[in-house]
Amino acid sequence: MCGIVGYVGREHRAMDVLLDGLRRLEYRGYDSAGVAILEGEKIEVRRAKGKLINLEGVLRDKPLQGSVGLGHTRWATHGKPSERNAHPHRAGSVVIVHNGIIENYRELREELEAAGCVVASDTDTELIAHLINLGVREGKELLTAVREACARLIGSFALGAMSETDPNHLVAAKHGGSPIIVGQGEKQAFLGSDIPAILPYTREMISLYDGDFALLSEEGVQVVDAEGRPVDREPMTIQWDPVSAERGGYDHFMQKEIFEQPRAITDTIGTRVIESALDLDLDGIEFTREQADALRSISLVACGTSSYACMVGKYMIEQIAGIRCEVDLASEFRYRQPILGPDCMVMPVSQSGETADTLGALREGRAKGARILSVCNSRESTIARESDDVLYTHAGPEIGVASTKAFVTQVVALYLIALKLAIVRGRLSKDEIQARLSELMRLPRLVEETLQIDQHVQKIARRYFKAEDFLFLGRGIMYPVAMEGALKLKEISYIHAEGYAAGEMKHGPIALIDENMPVVVIATQGALHEKLISNLQQVRARDGHVIAIATEGDEKIAEEANEVIYIKDLGDFLTSILATIPVQLFAYHVATLRGTDVDQPRNLAKSVTVE
Ligand code: G6P
Repeated sequence: MCGIVGYVGREHRAMDVLLDGLRRLEYRGYDSAGVAILEGEKIEVRRAKGKLINLEGVLRDKPLQGSVGLGHTRWATHGKPSERNAHPHRAGSVVIVHNGIIENYRELREELEAAGCVVASDTDTELIAHLINLGVREGKELLTAVREACARLIGSFALGAMSETDPNHLVAAKHGGSPIIVGQGEKQAFLGSDIPAILPYTREMISLYDGDFALLSEEGVQVVDAEGRPVDREPMTIQWDPVSAERGGYDHFMQKEIFEQPRAITDTIGTRVIESALDLDLDGIEFTREQADALRSISLVACGTSSYACMVGKYMIEQIAGIRCEVDLASEFRYRQPILGPDCMVMPVSQSGETADTLGALREGRAKGARILSVCNSRESTIARESDDVLYTHAGPEIGVASTKAFVTQVVALYLIALKLAIVRGRLSKDEIQARLSELMRLPRLVEETLQIDQHVQKIARRYFKAEDFLFLGRGIMYPVAMEGALKLKEISYIHAEGYAAGEMKHGPIALIDENMPVVVIATQGALHEKLISNLQQVRARDGHVIAIATEGDEKIAEEANEVIYIKDLGDFLTSILATIPVQLFAYHVATLRGTDVDQPRNLAKSVTVE
């Protein structure tokens, strides 16, 4: 999970501030690190693969001194973890650091190479440096060159730039995705991807909005818009104690983790998409065509929230890869004597990698000769160690007991596996692969946009938080999302909630519906939309209150629901991730309104290592 830090100010202080800031960002996890410092008239770059200690070693051998610089910790996205792909990246006199994903990376690379630029790394970031350098070479100021370069980018980015042609400034830019913070001190200015990175140096900070650019110098910070017109951004004064600093200023870890999801998804997609080859590299996990075709079935096994990710994954694997897929609660799996053999694959899905039941299911699969491919968030965990292959989710540490970012990254990982199997089995045309990969690359940005519904969801939560029972309904791939919504609500607010397949409502739950039982319906567009609308009318006919989660442009839904929460449509599978955001936020706001212990709800544990 990438981190940025920047400094402009007093003589020779840059290196200390940058390394200290990078240390404060270490908790996010990273695979390489680097710094760039202006020494005299030249910017010098030092980078190292692995932990900060390696970079510190490089700096001990070849120290840097200066008063302007940028630092970065990188979680690989485009290009594998290596010194060559580590940030900062240079093009001519320009050096930049960047968090996010550039979606039009391929087009830009072709264009820049055609124009004679030599691209030295596999990263999308370096392309931005080249774009900026083209402007600087024409004699433009750094800020103007950055603005013009950013106008060419599609995707999400937070970046810091410096140039030998403009030795007294740093420039920062933000669009979607990752946050970027600028701060001002006496005769110095700071840049960070997170408040804690620069908190020891200044408490006056500005969090840049999308489309903002900031010019940092000894004199302070100036914010402008895409056209270069000054923008007034009121600085905030940070008054956190050390504990809330750990929460990044959010009230709860769960809230922080919900808002970290764009970044967690970006990191999970990581280097795995090779758009140019229309393929996926799942960290070297191999499937030959023969192996994939010979698979008789896949058994997804997990507990709690992870089991709902499996249910979403089943729709993906069966429909895209065409392989029969079963989902089992891990606690039940081995006791039902599942029929397994070497032509089966068992896929344990676990955030912690330590859940006893999931481990038991894994061992059942192994004993019966099945291949074990797990999806896991924790390296060095028992489940990871005992698997033949592991596809890691890169959610980062999840502290809130109620799982949020782990769930969405598990769904992304399962989507990657479904796509890989489909590609290996030759089930998708080139156009279909291209379309699916570009949908995937748009996902982090659309999750970021979806998070903007937060206040709207909070308002709805205020109207319903006193209810004692909730029903969550969905059809198709949204059925497990409805189950997850109900689970989130009951876990942290202690309200009784049930998730149901909407078509099943008439076979039981409809008996409960009256004006006291709100019904949350995930009513996104799709093959079963019309059927779902009639389920919804059945609720309204019984005075039930309907909160609908619908896709933008669906005006008709407003006639059928008391409240509507709109999300974007991202196709048949990935819309399930966008639909998860409102149910997470709803549970969170209801719980805070009821005053429960959101991060450590009663009776629940983050990692359940007993049967
Ligand atoms: C516990 C946690 C849940 C989690 C489940 C499975 O119940 O409270 O948030 O979904 O365990 O955990 P795992 O680490 O295997 O995903």
